[in-house]
Amino acid sequence: MSVPVLTFFNNKGGVGKTSLVFHLAWMLSEMGKRVVAIDLDPQANLTSAFLSEDDLEILWDPDDISQRNSTIYQCVRPLTEVGDILAPQTQRISSRLHLVPGDLGLAGFEDFLSREWPDALGSGSLYRPFRILSSFWQVAQMAAGQHGADIILADVGPNLGAINRSALIGTDHVVIPLAADLFSLQGLRNLGPTLQTWREDWKKRVDNWSTPAFALPAGSMEPVGYILMQHSERLSRPVKAYNKWADRIPLTYQQAVLGRRASLNSQPIDANRLAKLKHYRSLVPMAQEVRKPIFQLSTADGAIGSHSYAVRDARTDFEALAVAILERIGPVPETS
Ligand SMILES: Nc1ncnc2c1ncn2[C@@H]1O[C@H](COP(=O)(O)OP(=O)(O)OP(=O)(O)O)[C@@H](O)[C@H]1O
Ligand SMILES: [Mg+2]
Repeated sequence: MSVPVLTFFNNKGGVGKTSLVFHLAWMLSEMGKRVVAIDLDPQANLTSAFLSEDDLEILWDPDDISQRNSTIYQCVRPLTEVGDILAPQTQRISSRLHLVPGDLGLAGFEDFLSREWPDALGSGSLYRPFRILSSFWQVAQMAAGQHGADIILADVGPNLGAINRSALIGTDHVVIPLAADLFSLQGLRNLGPTLQTWREDWKKRVDNWSTPAFALPAGSMEPVGYILMQHSERLSRPVKAYNKWADRIPLTYQQAVLGRRASLNSQPIDANRLAKLKHYRSLVPMAQEVRKPIFQLSTADGAIGSHSYAVRDARTDFEALAVAILERIGPVPETS
């Protein structure tokens, strides 16, 4: 049995994917789940959210032989020559949270993944194309196996390229963070059909390999729902414009992501909306400074006065979001 993979995805950039993975990985681990977070974005923002610059310097040192399997790219790079996937050396964030770090070098894997895609449908030897296309999932599962993880959370970059196609075929559940603006709505219209195509194309390839030599991801990419990032006054956009776009999301999501015909939503809150997430304002830089989730900020970190109430509210918000996600993805096995 493989460990479920949950990916936060939207090809629109800057909608809060990385921040959500960071906070939910922490929250789920505080709730008793064993979590592996994997950074599949070559920007490696998730990795720098978790690790200090000193740690990163060691991790990314090209001359340090002890770091040969310390990032996702290091683990898959042998595939570009004659080697196989390396088991990852993960970073321990807490007793129940481990990270497979990202790597700017991963960008160089994009073309390689792209070239292997047609070969997995060919009549030649399928071992290597499948090994390569499923490599992110294989590394994530190895990391989960090392730590007895219940769930894997993946962060990806904002595009529909070959790295993300490989990330998504290794994904069981997809959460879509959205802002209420034209770009997010447009992104949603591309995203839904792309997920559908990737699902079908992966299934065709798996069906074509009659005797797989190793476990493969199912590539189900089940949409869990969307998270609406709330209006920020700092963006100084009129609330009217926010409401205009927010009101269009439920139908666009149904049509583009769920492939359903438009139906009028009589519920006061859209059933596909997992949460409406606040803009946490000054708590954000405060938390980034100490590399903690907002809900762990203490008075020593500067969360005093009204900030301490905001920290408490953030804990409530992220707890509710984690519970909503767990409810929808079905039972995640408990560890003791
Ligand atoms: N709830 C929030 N309140 C305030 N700021 C937030 C919130 N969520 C994210 N941000 C900030 O918004 C910016 C973009 O967030 P983030 O990096 O998580 O987005 P992303 O979708 O991962 O971006 P990319 O597409 O570049 O990977 C960051 O500076 C982050 O700190
Ligand atoms: Mg990001």
